[in-house]
Amino acid sequence: MKRSLLITAFIVILVLAAVTLTISLTSSSEVMGTQADEEASDVPFWKTSIIYQAYPRSISDELPDGTGDLVGITSKVDYLRDLGVGVVWLSPIYESPMKDFGYDISNYTAIDPVFGDMDDFDELVARFHEHGLKVIMDFVPNHSSDQHEWFQKSVRREEPYTDYYVWADPKGTDDDGSPIPPNNWLSVFRGSAWQWNEERGQFFYHQFLASQPDLNFRTPAVREDMQKILTFWLDKGVDGFRVDAILHLFEVKDLTLNEPEVPGSEDPDDYASLNHIYTTDLPETFPVIRDWRVLLDQYPDKLLMLEVYSNNMETLMKYYGNETYPLGDFPFNFLLIDHLKNRSELTGESLRTTVGLWLDNLPKGKWPNWVLGNHDVGRVASRVGEDLVDALNMVILLLPGTPVTYYGEEIGMLDTFISWEDTQDPQGCHWGPDHYQEHSRDPARTPMQWDESKFAGFTTANSTWLPVNPNYKTLNVAAQILAQTSHLKIYRELAVLRREEVFMKGNVSFPVITKDIFTFMRHLESYEQYLVVVNLSQKPVEVNLLQNTTQELPQKANVVMRSITDTSENTKPGMEVPLDKLPLTAGEGMVLTLSSEV
Ligand code: GLC
Repeated sequence: MKRSLLITAFIVILVLAAVTLTISLTSSSEVMGTQADEEASDVPFWKTSIIYQAYPRSISDELPDGTGDLVGITSKVDYLRDLGVGVVWLSPIYESPMKDFGYDISNYTAIDPVFGDMDDFDELVARFHEHGLKVIMDFVPNHSSDQHEWFQKSVRREEPYTDYYVWADPKGTDDDGSPIPPNNWLSVFRGSAWQWNEERGQFFYHQFLASQPDLNFRTPAVREDMQKILTFWLDKGVDGFRVDAILHLFEVKDLTLNEPEVPGSEDPDDYASLNHIYTTDLPETFPVIRDWRVLLDQYPDKLLMLEVYSNNMETLMKYYGNETYPLGDFPFNFLLIDHLKNRSELTGESLRTTVGLWLDNLPKGKWPNWVLGNHDVGRVASRVGEDLVDALNMVILLLPGTPVTYYGEEIGMLDTFISWEDTQDPQGCHWGPDHYQEHSRDPARTPMQWDESKFAGFTTANSTWLPVNPNYKTLNVAAQILAQTSHLKIYRELAVLRREEVFMKGNVSFPVITKDIFTFMRHLESYEQYLVVVNLSQKPVEVNLLQNTTQELPQKANVVMRSITDTSENTKPGMEVPLDKLPLTAGEGMVLTLSSEV
């Protein structure tokens, strides 16, 4: 009798506790609404971790030939663990002619010799797992290399490969007798997306380079082969995939349709001159992603993240799927890249709008993510200013969601000037010597700056595949470890701080937003509240947060962390600062805890 009473009381307490927890998670002014269901044990790894993008050519060159390799990446496992990242995403390491630096794959289940071999890969996974780090592969399903055996056989119409790619007859012939492409579709890298193949007597479609023919996902065997490839890597123990160029997976069946021109566009070869209604974001894509999701879910705890470039929120959010039809764990959030191309676009208001766009459009139960840069865009410190490096890391590491860091962002690496002669990126090369600088992705892909030795400690070879940034003598990991304050130290501290429950589970609100100032607060019942303040202007300011706030704030707060640009005696970590007269340097970010009395 007594025992059953006790059990009943215990159940009542449990229910009450659950109700209280639910209320506390949903009662704040602006609610994230993502985590009520996530209790410690079953939270997927990618929700609590930082994802670090390693561009394998540029991390470390241990088999010294000037290009980075897998042994090099493995040698940095301690660095990555100490940095506090939990997931490392490797850009493609598969066998490839390297026309698009690995995004042109000739064998999806082999390692390119430039990066090492399968033993090196297995060793990398084993070492990373030993250190508690997850490994994510880049998966490039939209296109293969023209050197892939599938393509060679497709050219010769060898079954079952005849329809593995998107082939089309010419529309006619021009005055010179040359075949005319079936439609006006353009390559992302410029010019017609159709390439004539003499041997087969047809055009093939290529959304990127002509040496990257698009696979035909309307052919069931292509879809089956892709499943086999995913299975191969999953069985090897990888922890998930980043899917490349998913928006381009399908194009309409009717290859005679022309895409409408964007009014006012002057350059007919420029991809941006057409509205891509027939070649991007087709509904057929979703069942394919769904098949991948289902496959991944047969393994415990796997991550599927999708590369989707779009400025349409509805389009973007579709790639999450929904609770009954989950797709990607997330499409990358590139809004911080797209909306904040340079400092003049970056204000407290624009940052608030951009952050809100993702949070407010998030489908029910889905998880946000934040990206400042990657191998396809200029480095964030060059785009918006070095003074903002720490502040932006505070933003992406302390907002709700998963931050994605591109290698070098943790030390504030800058774009490197690359001469036309040294230019490697096909996108840069296609634009020619006069315009390559506006389009080349090389400046953000240069070797990681480890120390002040020759080639920044990246290699012992006599040259590097892209030049090392000349600023490496002062801007490098070793120097930032030694310095009293540095971007790297701030990053490491942030990585530790974000593990606190208030950041993992708490709500977010944005009490003060002005032209110069962006703030957000993280709060969780019975935890200390955190306030992050960023001065986006290019001058020092003294702000009165109490005047502009939408929420009641205390008079004073305690400094937890501040940007390295701030060397004032009055705002050192641990000190109390007045919120009605808070001094901030240009671009400074400050993390504060609020005293409980308001
Ligand atoms: C993705 C990759 C990019 C590559 C392209 C073609 O956008 O991020 O680097 O060039 O796909 O594969």
